[in-house]
Amino acid sequence: MDKMLDVREMAPKDRHPRIFDAFKALGPGESFILINDHEPRPLLYQFQAEHDGEFEWWPLEQGPLAWRVVVAKREKSGPHRTLTDFFQTDHRRLDAIFDRFKDAVRVKKFEEAASAFREFRLGLTRHIKAEEEILFPVFEDKTGMHDAGPTAVMRMDHKDIKELMDKIVNAADAKDEKTATDGAQAIFNILADHNMKEEHILYPETDSFLSDAERAQVIKKAQTLP
Ligand SMILES: [Fe+2]
Ligand SMILES: [Fe+2]
Repeated sequence: MDKMLDVREMAPKDRHPRIFDAFKALGPGESFILINDHEPRPLLYQFQAEHDGEFEWWPLEQGPLAWRVVVAKREKSGPHRTLTDFFQTDHRRLDAIFDRFKDAVRVKKFEEAASAFREFRLGLTRHIKAEEEILFPVFEDKTGMHDAGPTAVMRMDHKDIKELMDKIVNAADAKDEKTATDGAQAIFNILADHNMKEEHILYPETDSFLSDAERAQVIKKAQTLP
């Protein structure tokens, strides 16, 4: 279980210092879940300015009542981060949430399953957005492959995945376990192949076109997506 840092009851002026103290106290690879009552955007900017390349920032919930985000200290920190590493780390993280969801379904803990699925859906939706709006355009511009290249195939997978996620949410609301489980299996099947192609072809190729500074810019933009 991740450590929690709930700053909602703290005086606003104390919040940032407490959060940065908690971050400094983390060992490499450790994390906490920050809980706040508003979008912690200024905080993210401060992390990017003061701890560039040292942290992960993965939103789990984005309002309207609570904002939760995983803040982690990277195992290996430094300015030379590849996009492959950034997006692959997010794949592994989402896989782990998806496992939590499937385990909860298996033992019929549906509340837990629903909450894990909400985290998975938010994370994967943001991941797809970062790929389609930030990463793929770099690949497409550098290679000139727009409609017929690998990104076109990835975009089609994304569309299927998003439709399946909507279907699962509707099935869960209707307590239709069979449709939800079949949908989850279908997403799992698409992602296994999809992620492998991205990790082995698309991400490394895109990395090869960019400088360290440009890669860092892509990661910053991906973190700040709404
Ligand atoms: Fe993708
Ligand atoms: Fe991906």
